Amino acid sequence: MNISRETIEQVQQAVDIVEVVGDFVSLKKKGHYMMACCPFHNEKSPSFSVTPSKGIYHCFGCGKSGDSIQFIMDHETFTFSEAIVFLASKYNIPVIELGRKEEDVQQDTERESILIALQYANDHYVKNLWESDEGQSIGLSYFRERGFIDPIIKKFNLGYSLDAWEGLLSKAVADQFKPEIMQKAGLALARENANDSTARENANDSTKIKLYDRFRGRVMFPIHSVAGKVIGFGARMLTKEKNQPKYLNSPEGEVYHKSKVLYGLFHAKTAIRKLDECFLVEGYTDVVSLHQGGIEHVVASSGTALTEDQIKLIRRYTPNITLLYDGDNAGMKAALRGVDLILKEEMNVSVVVLPDQEDPDSFVRKLGGEGMMEFIKQNKKDFITFKAGLLSEEAGRDPYKKAAVIKDIVESITQIKDGIKRAVFFRECSRVLDVDEQVLISEYNKLVYNGRHNGKGQQPPSSETLEEALVEQQTENPEDSLDHVSLLVKREEESAITLLLNHFDELVDEKLSAGSYILQELEEITFQTPVYHSMFTEMAQRLSKGEAVGSLHFIKHPDTEIRKEAIRLLSSPHAVSANWEKFHIIVPTNIDLLPTLTQRSVLRTKRVAVLRMMHEIMDKIKVEKDDQVIMDLQLQIREVKKVSDQINGLLGIVVG
Ligand code: CTP
Ligand code: MN
Repeated sequence: MNISRETIEQVQQAVDIVEVVGDFVSLKKKGHYMMACCPFHNEKSPSFSVTPSKGIYHCFGCGKSGDSIQFIMDHETFTFSEAIVFLASKYNIPVIELGRKEEDVQQDTERESILIALQYANDHYVKNLWESDEGQSIGLSYFRERGFIDPIIKKFNLGYSLDAWEGLLSKAVADQFKPEIMQKAGLALARENANDSTARENANDSTKIKLYDRFRGRVMFPIHSVAGKVIGFGARMLTKEKNQPKYLNSPEGEVYHKSKVLYGLFHAKTAIRKLDECFLVEGYTDVVSLHQGGIEHVVASSGTALTEDQIKLIRRYTPNITLLYDGDNAGMKAALRGVDLILKEEMNVSVVVLPDQEDPDSFVRKLGGEGMMEFIKQNKKDFITFKAGLLSEEAGRDPYKKAAVIKDIVESITQIKDGIKRAVFFRECSRVLDVDEQVLISEYNKLVYNGRHNGKGQQPPSSETLEEALVEQQTENPEDSLDHVSLLVKREEESAITLLLNHFDELVDEKLSAGSYILQELEEITFQTPVYHSMFTEMAQRLSKGEAVGSLHFIKHPDTEIRKEAIRLLSSPHAVSANWEKFHIIVPTNIDLLPTLTQRSVLRTKRVAVLRMMHEIMDKIKVEKDDQVIMDLQLQIREVKKVSDQINGLLGIVVG
């Protein structure tokens, strides 16, 4: 839907974050802001905050944040336009739609017709199952024999297609459905051996194309869209005929795109959000059986490797995916290949390997829901550790094979953007693979370096091969690694930007604002974290042009990443972010401390920048062959060290 700018602006002006959020959760006033238990994840004590003056919400538990429109999009899984329409009706704002092209309208009505036909077909299949003799004696008895109970069969709208050529078609046509739509819905097929001349004769008369039912004599699993509309079917055969596929699925079409669908998501989404986790299985029957066991946060990839679109679908509800697979099956291997894709979306992936010969369906029937959950709890491993263990076992003690495994694992780790998480994986994999953490980190640095200089034929900073490194495992202290320093840098940059966002215009002495002071002091430093770099340079530019640098500008920033980060940093009155707490940085709440706070933040940011510089020079020295150059570099180190000592002195840090 194409909504006019005018409508969007009216909605943006009308919305009140407290009213919008208040329709869904109960907010309690706490000082300048309101708190509630987060509607996006399961929690007992409130960490979801709404800041009325800024029109934003933020959850310290799960990190979800945004404005009123974003809230509706997230909570109701609406698109932007749908959220606007929803809010417009709440505030009695008329929605003005922009004109659409004729063919768009045409396509929409065709889509609508297909959806109606699919729903009609589903009703028909369900009716067959419960009411026809054939459906009851073949379909229903099959489900019951499998152990599906009636309420579950009904919940998933399972059905049965009669073993006839026109079981569905004859009814549908009698009910005025166009055969052409039945065909486009994937419900009917054109007869291949239709007489050629008749086919030509009837070419312009679509009502006369000879069609037959696609699904015959099978139990039917309707596939729902996220919004709950039937968009296709998976149909399981009941006979043992060898030349037929076990499952026959709807073909790709206007409404059904296999790669963008996850079976069961419609029924699972509330549970996924509540439990902040999504189980991923392979089959329709796995989803149904797990539901019957009371495990509802589960979706199926329908026997194929996960696609990026499917991962993004899950990402809307939770970043935590757990794969439930049978140890030695093909799906597991496919999932192994897909892992980098999942990691790239910043999801946390875990794996539970089921005992041989069991799939989730058979296993939950054996153990019951609670037993199954207990098994999952006991056997869950994070994906990278799992992969490392699996591959490492295969490689044995062969250093060449092992080097290949390390490269593979490190490649997975490079997909993880979060430095803290990366550090955890380095440690974990070093244990599992039994190699020094530093070996992994330097392999990582090589990969990242190569990635950046791709195609330019440059050598990585270290000439040492991984194989050599494995032989003489270095014993460098990882705490001193560049990787660790990078974490420190990120942390200080975050702290400086938080101060800037919160206290830009407040004075640190008679004339100088905190903002101008920080910008001046850190002018020479290039922020390493891309989003903070963008924010910092933008602040400097706006200040020089005399534009406002208030938080408001960043909360409404057109760049999603900047907007999200600003909201995250701003959402508590004194911006004690989860990370700060983790690092035991105590932020004084007394505003009189602002001058000290700003000064220390500036010094700390400088300190870590200098530290980083030192590490870079040291890394250069390690690979440099030319003695003269090495001496120059050592001289540089000495200079930098002097600056570093000065800063440490000012900060009162004694370095031995
Ligand atoms: N699948 C498919 N086409 C096939 C076989 C399988 O589309 N010919 C998909 C289905 O989505 C199926 C999933 O792959 O649910 C897993 O396949 P499988 O494990 O063979 O089926 P189950 O779901 O376990 O079904 P059942 O227990 O009834 O054999
Ligand atoms: Mn099965």
